[in-house]
Amino acid sequence: MKKAISMILVLCLLLSLAACGGTGKSGSGTPSAPPEGTGTPAPSAGTDEPSGTEPSETPSEAPTETPGTETAGGKTLVVYFSATNNTEAVAGYIADAAGADIFELVPTEPYTAGDLDWTDPDSRVSREHEDESLRVVELENAVPDNWSEYDTVFVGYPIWWGGAAWPVNGFVTSNDFTGKIVIPFCTSASSGMGESGELLAQMAGTGDWQDGRRFGSGVSEDEVAEWVDSLGLASGGASMVYFTSDISPEGLMKVYEALGVELTGDNIAVKLSTGEPPASNYLDPDLIRDLVEHVDGTIVECNTAYGGSRSETNMHYQVAEDHGFTDLGKGFVIMDEDGESMILPVEGGQRLTENYVGAHFGDFDGFLVLSHFKGHMIAGFGGAIKNISIGIGSQEGKNLIHTAGRSHTSWFGGEQDAFLESMADAGKSVVDALDGNILFINVMNRLSIDCDCNGRPAEPDIHDIGILASTDPVALDQACLDLIYEAEGSESFIRRVEGQNGAHVLEAGETIGLGSRTYQLENIDE
Ligand SMILES: Cc1cc2nc3c(=O)[nH]c(=O)nc-3n(C[C@H](O)[C@H](O)[C@H](O)COP(=O)(O)O)c2cc1C
Repeated sequence: MKKAISMILVLCLLLSLAACGGTGKSGSGTPSAPPEGTGTPAPSAGTDEPSGTEPSETPSEAPTETPGTETAGGKTLVVYFSATNNTEAVAGYIADAAGADIFELVPTEPYTAGDLDWTDPDSRVSREHEDESLRVVELENAVPDNWSEYDTVFVGYPIWWGGAAWPVNGFVTSNDFTGKIVIPFCTSASSGMGESGELLAQMAGTGDWQDGRRFGSGVSEDEVAEWVDSLGLASGGASMVYFTSDISPEGLMKVYEALGVELTGDNIAVKLSTGEPPASNYLDPDLIRDLVEHVDGTIVECNTAYGGSRSETNMHYQVAEDHGFTDLGKGFVIMDEDGESMILPVEGGQRLTENYVGAHFGDFDGFLVLSHFKGHMIAGFGGAIKNISIGIGSQEGKNLIHTAGRSHTSWFGGEQDAFLESMADAGKSVVDALDGNILFINVMNRLSIDCDCNGRPAEPDIHDIGILASTDPVALDQACLDLIYEAEGSESFIRRVEGQNGAHVLEAGETIGLGSRTYQLENIDE
């Protein structure tokens, strides 16, 4: 387990954990166990706005705010079935230790004490055990709310006849675990977990299932909390962000591997900015080549909404070639090359109900979002959120984000905070559409106050910092912004961010559930 050297926990509010339902239980006793085993179951890194010439209409100065002072959002969920409350107790301990939400699986027809009497060959469990076709247990609700927001899911159940109690099956088969870390846990009188976790993983067919852990029926809270700590999950609703100061192909691979999750599917997109000529700070192809090949990715971009060299498809393909992005992985695609958009719904957005992305977005199963972190004339800064919103937007989509849904044809004239909120909305639609099969890496080098959409960016005032990775784009951008605030020579960058109220995109992202501004930074160099 890697050592967390830096904990930046910015909690003003603790998550309020949903109470465990407790309905339909048949008492708190633990029946003695039946016999088991009878079968159960250089240049380095924009996307969008003007190069060189600034628009005459510069957004007005906005109130300044120090980043990282807001509340947390939960990203871990504990799901459990419990017939006699033992697993429920453990689920509660895990939720407390991990700062997680909790979700109980309640059979529509709850198990009574008589139902659970395994010594009676005519009891419900005995009959269900004997006849596999009877083990389909209808649940009051098999699909947790806001499922796509959870990166990590604990799944808890009692051991019945050496395997997972079957009421949990309905949950496992009803949800897509793609992009999630799944950690099974169980309670039993004496049996181990056996193959219960593996069998559930097979049943699910998706998700990164871990080994899990069995607990005795009367396990203490301390023992459970110790196990949760040993998993190295971010606590208190924080999202994990991994850091390396090693800005090299090896460093990039290591920080990616630290995420502990792989993208799933045959067609993986690697979203980056091709960079505006002649001298912008786009990501160095040699830095990213190994990782792009590791994920067998296709580099993807969208045309810009302003003039410049990347607003028209042929010219943009030429720039991509000139900048070395066409011979990496499976090649290069401009997702809106035909000028077409695909429309994604925005669930729970503040400004947008629809997001227009490049039409080829739908060709890909998962996205690796590689962003060069830098300042930005309009957004204040650009990182992961900007890359998945403006960066994946078609030209029409970019106009809509800039104007908070007002104009399909022009990006000028939007109100600043509404624009920032629209970026968060658009980003959420992308993450939701991929159901979490998306990972984020920000490279903090060539830290100019100007975006890579600027062909002649200002020289950086800050030294290179490192590479950061997370499954949470809000946490990732927040961590980068905090590192900027800590860096020597960051005054010009901070002026740019605060001048545009840049941190508001993080507030908006957290408000709508795109991610959490609370994070735990783990330095993988240590
Ligand atoms: C139908 C049934 C089958 C069980 N089978 C086993 C078993 O094979 N091995 C074991 O150690 N415990 C077994 N137990 C005991 C439970 O696994 C144990 O009491 C567990 O903690 C109950 O969790 P719960 O209170 O969350 O329902 C069984 C209990 C029941 C009701």
